[in-house]
Amino acid sequence: MKVNGTPTRTIWLNDNGWAVDIIDQTKLPHLYEIVTLNDLNDACVAIKDMLVRGAPLIGATAAYGMALALYHDATDAGFEKAYADLYATRPTAVNLRWALDEMKTKIFPLPEGERMAAAYKLAADICDEDVAQNSSIGDHGLKIIEEIWEKKGKKGVVNILTHCNAGWLATVDWGTATAPMYKAFEAGIPIHVWVDETRPRNQGASLTAWELGNHGVPHTLIVDNAGGHLMQHGEVDLCIVGTDRTTASGDVCNKIGTYLKALAAHDNDVPFYVGLPSPTIDWTVDDGVKDIPIEERDATEVTEMTGRTKDGKIETITITPENCKAGNYAFDVTPRKYVTGLITERGVAPASKEGLAALFPDKV
Ligand code: MRU
Repeated sequence: MKVNGTPTRTIWLNDNGWAVDIIDQTKLPHLYEIVTLNDLNDACVAIKDMLVRGAPLIGATAAYGMALALYHDATDAGFEKAYADLYATRPTAVNLRWALDEMKTKIFPLPEGERMAAAYKLAADICDEDVAQNSSIGDHGLKIIEEIWEKKGKKGVVNILTHCNAGWLATVDWGTATAPMYKAFEAGIPIHVWVDETRPRNQGASLTAWELGNHGVPHTLIVDNAGGHLMQHGEVDLCIVGTDRTTASGDVCNKIGTYLKALAAHDNDVPFYVGLPSPTIDWTVDDGVKDIPIEERDATEVTEMTGRTKDGKIETITITPENCKAGNYAFDVTPRKYVTGLITERGVAPASKEGLAALFPDKV
């Protein structure tokens, strides 16, 4: 999507041909800074400290992290260390494991001298595939938005609520939840997006608002607890969120607070859709609440806030009493019964084992 009018991806090969460039998302929306990853450690830090984040982009960064590792050390030991270090960076988004397993299956068996070039090629393919999958999610999601627009008699706007940032910044391009929104916007359907701020890291306020704004999509930022109220008053036509891991039976793990939005949507008959490329499906688990590891992050993300002061300085302040204990659960699981449909690159599946199996018979 566009930054200052220029089409941009979130990760790309540096001009030197081997290092990897990313957008430092911890600085947005105040500063747009490109950071160069030079080795395995840089890639691990970028994922762990959330310079890059969002399930598909974590997967793409892990793939390039492996390529960087092999650039410096293509031995078996080098590969295994890279796999272990990258795997340990963040626990919930399954795209990380998926990308590393792709590398393990396709690159590890090669002779040492061929591994590095093949890893760079595979990382680039993973990125291109992500873009194509998200674009396709956009096409399938567009049909849902079109139907709602028709049902409204083509009057007013289609109001869409989203949580966290499942936008192009969370992927290589297009986004998952946002792809249908960008496609609808480009098709001339008047849409308006309610953007949940998404405490504690404010991915909605900092990232979704920034990228929608850059692309010219009308949106309004709301506090995390406003969604239910808006739904009760008919101000939300549909919700579309992303996911970090969806089970083979359709349970959806996503940023903390997603579950409460789904409950409110259910209570108010608001359709609740999830956009996801197939690498986000974990075919090895069924029960999302029981089987998906939920990341717990540092308490300071809850007790502190960072922002820009009126004189332009970026500062971090404490918002709690000193020594206040805080819990920081980064994700929650929305049971499949609250999900209207899963928008994948192959079409919209009911959130069920049968629904996913029908679209992906080759994966089950
Ligand atoms: O902690 P984050 O910012 O990596 O969490 C991201 C999300 O929860 C996204 O909604 C999810 O990865 C879907 S991404 C297209």
